[in-house]
Amino acid sequence: MADDKHIDAATGTEFKGHEWDGIRELDTPLPRWWLWTFYATILFAIAYTIAYPAWPMIHGATRGMLGWSSRGALDKELAAREAQVAPIRKAIAETPVEALPGKPQLMQAAVEGGRAAFRVHCVQCHGSGAAGSKGYPNLNDDDWLWGGDLATIEKTIFDGVRNPDHAATRMSQMPAFGRDQLLTAAQVDDVVAYVRTISRQDRLGAAAQRGAKLFADNCAVCHGPAGHGNRALGAPNLTDGIWLYGGDADTIHQTVWNSRQGVMPRWGDKLDKATVRMLAAYVHSLGGGEAAPVVATAKGAGDAGR
Ligand code: HEC
Ligand code: HEC
Repeated sequence: MADDKHIDAATGTEFKGHEWDGIRELDTPLPRWWLWTFYATILFAIAYTIAYPAWPMIHGATRGMLGWSSRGALDKELAAREAQVAPIRKAIAETPVEALPGKPQLMQAAVEGGRAAFRVHCVQCHGSGAAGSKGYPNLNDDDWLWGGDLATIEKTIFDGVRNPDHAATRMSQMPAFGRDQLLTAAQVDDVVAYVRTISRQDRLGAAAQRGAKLFADNCAVCHGPAGHGNRALGAPNLTDGIWLYGGDADTIHQTVWNSRQGVMPRWGDKLDKATVRMLAAYVHSLGGGEAAPVVATAKGAGDAGR
């Protein structure tokens, strides 16, 4: 081997002693800077595994001397964020909902907070754009079952609709006219025909004329003499072409035969006051928000807003 140790004339570096087809390898040492960087990375890795969570164990991992954890870091960030918004939430909780529009900055914060909370709690029923679906009202339009001013919306969200386990919930029961034999099958057909005419879908025929009398006797008490609805009872306007369940003859027939009992959860127990208020501000901002409670008239509350 010693015989193979030759010096390369061009570089002055020793050969390694290998040769492949006339190509010989030089024994060039690693550059100093490279070696030191390499040792430094090893030292860093050791220091890191001591300081931070590193080695997987059977239950969890080594915890590290600094006590850092990603969960702890997140908690700290959340706490900082919480501390930042706490005064705003407090101010919203202390401002009566009707007074919010007078404080534009607070109103703005409430609408934004409400938008976020709506995505978590409300979209599964009302849809991501709050446009609703059959049985779940659209919250974007100015057609309200119970009312569209801030205080009324807040009350609806806080107490819910037809929650059997809460006395404060909004309540009203449309009777099941067919199932409970309040009307005969022929009478139900007649009153359905009448509803089709006041919603301007069919012309007034003999059946609808008989239905008009039945409507006055059985339905007007809730839906109003002209069918414009009554917000005190959550009874929808039947003349505006906006349907909660549907305006075709079959669906109206089902509604009158079996009644409908839409249930909206009560949020007052699940969410804090500020969140409910923010949700009210958000829903109000969607497009159908009204300035003040609509006063009930003889024709029915749903009528006065138009
Ligand atoms: C489990 C389904 C469900 C969820 C979740 C739900 N709602 Fe409702 N909501 C309803 C139903 C059903 C009605 C209609 C009640 C009725 O028939 O009178 C309603 C009615 C309303 C109304 C009254 C609309 C009007 O025309 O007067 C408002 C406002 C409302 N919801 C807001 C919310 C908000 C805000 C949330 C989220 C915190 C929410 N809802 C979550 C089912 C739901
Ligand atoms: C005690 C009050 C009450 C009486 C009486 C009543 N309704 Fe209703 N009606 C309601 C309520 C409340 C609703 C909404 C139910 C819901 O939100 O789930 C409703 C819903 C309806 C709907 C559904 C509207 C839609 O948008 O899909 C129709 C149609 C209807 N009623 C027709 C009638 C007819 C016809 C009569 C008479 C034969 C009648 N109602 C009598 C309270 C009443």
